[in-house]
Parts: sequence; structure tokens; C-alpha cells
Amino acid sequence: MLKGNGLCKNFGGVAALNDVDISLEKGSLIGLIGPNGAGKTTLFNAIAGAFSLSSGNLEFNGKSLNGKSANHICRLGIARTFQVPRPFAEMTCLENVLVPLVNRSRVGERTALLQEGREILDFVGLGNRDDILAKELNLVEKKRLEMARALCTNPQLLLLDEVLGGLNTQEIGAAVDLIVNLSEKRGIAVLWIEHVMGAIMGAAERIIVLDQGEKLMEGTPEEVAHDPRVIHAYLGT
Ligand SMILES: Nc1ncnc2c1ncn2[C@@H]1O[C@H](COP(=O)(O)OP(=O)(O)OP(=O)(O)O)[C@@H](O)[C@H]1O
Ligand SMILES: [Mg+2]
Repeated sequence: MLKGNGLCKNFGGVAALNDVDISLEKGSLIGLIGPNGAGKTTLFNAIAGAFSLSSGNLEFNGKSLNGKSANHICRLGIARTFQVPRPFAEMTCLENVLVPLVNRSRVGERTALLQEGREILDFVGLGNRDDILAKELNLVEKKRLEMARALCTNPQLLLLDEVLGGLNTQEIGAAVDLIVNLSEKRGIAVLWIEHVMGAIMGAAERIIVLDQGEKLMEGTPEEVAHDPRVIHAYLGT
């Protein structure tokens, strides 16, 4: 579904990503980990079209993503959440999800859109928060709204950037169930950046490890957790 080879993104001559190869199948749940500044969010920005690649190639369902705008890439079926949620603060939760829904709709579908918006809010656990202004939500709810907005674009691939940060143990459990449901029940492929190791190691099929802009390794959670290179990247010598 998603393939990328030799990806490179330069910032003023400094390679932020260097030779990161990536491949993802439909409906898979893949973790992306690495120390702070490893290049995880940069990789999302490259896939989602926020940054253009300085070299390398990215393909989604056989179509090249190189040079395509973020808007175009979203329409092809790739949605993302942001590490820091920034909903439309003065709009309600329902209005926030209606923005992407209206954007992909045809004229005259008002009732269907409202229903779909409510269903997606319900799916992410915000079913009783339709009419609340986004600025009134707590962090957990803002992260859920962020996921709902991405889901409203009807993605085949969802890029999740640290959706568990700042949540307590119980909230993490519920959010992980939600993420697993995305791939198992909705068939959406998920590429998931996370620092909460217990959660991502238990849920992801495979884990990609980035360090200093390079792919350190890729393997099962078990293989990754015991690899000396990964332990070294996180803990040093
Ligand atoms: N717009 C930019 N201009 C210059 N350097 C940048 C820019 N964006 C990111 N970087 C640098 O690229 C590197 C990778 O950053 P990135 O945000 O992708 O890391 P990350 O793996 O997501 O880290 P974290 O876990 O802290 O979110 C860092 O050294 C960062 O300082
Ligand atoms: Mg990041």
C-alpha cells in the first residue's frame, strides 16, 4: 500500500531523514519509535506532503506521492493527526468534524453528513460531546477529536503522532482499544508514533525504529525490545 525508498529530507543542508525505507500493507498496525528528535514526525510530514522530499521516492497504492500537495495526498487516502492537537477552538466538536466531512461531500447531503459526524464522534468516545466547544475539551478529548477529524477524511492509511502522551493508564487502555479497532474493524492501515512503550509493544504487529534520521531496525515488538542497538539508542552505553 505504502512504499518509500531512500527517503531524504534536507533542512538547510542537514539530512533530517537519510535512507529511510518504509513499506506498509492494507489494514496493518505498525509502530514507529525512536528517541526524541529521531525524525519520526519529519517522516510523517514527508508522507503527508507537509514537506517535499529532496530525494527518494514514495508511492501509495502504486501512485507516486512525490511533489503532491498535502491536500492531494489526503484525498488519495492518507490522513494524519498532529503531535499537538489544534482543533478549531471556537467551534463545537460536531462542527470540527463537519469541516473534513463537508470538504469531501456533494451538495444536498446535510442529514447524512450530520449523522456520519455523530457516528465518528461516538466511535472515538466523544458521543456525548457533540455540542461542546473544542476549547472546553481536556487533553484526552482533544486527542480523540484529532483522531475523529482525521477519520472523517475516510483514510486508508492513518498516521498517528503520539496520541497517548499525557494520558493515565486507564485512558491509555481505552485509546489502544480504539486504535486496534481502526485496523481490525475498519481495515485502516495505521502507522503509529508512540513513546508509551508498553502500549505500542503490545498492540503493533511490527515496529520500525528510527534514530538520528536513519532506520535503525524493523522487527516484531519482541525482536525490537531485545535488540542491543535499540537499547543503546534509548539508554546510551
Ligand atoms: N522545520 C525544521 N527545520 C529544521 N530542523 C527541523 C525541522 N523540523 C524538525 N527538525 C529537526 O529534525 C530532527 C527530527 O525532528 P522530529 O520532529 O522529526 O523528531 P521526532 O522523532 O518526531 O521527535 P519527538 O519524539 O521529540 O517528537 C530534529 O533534530 C529536529 O530538530
Ligand atoms: Mg515528533
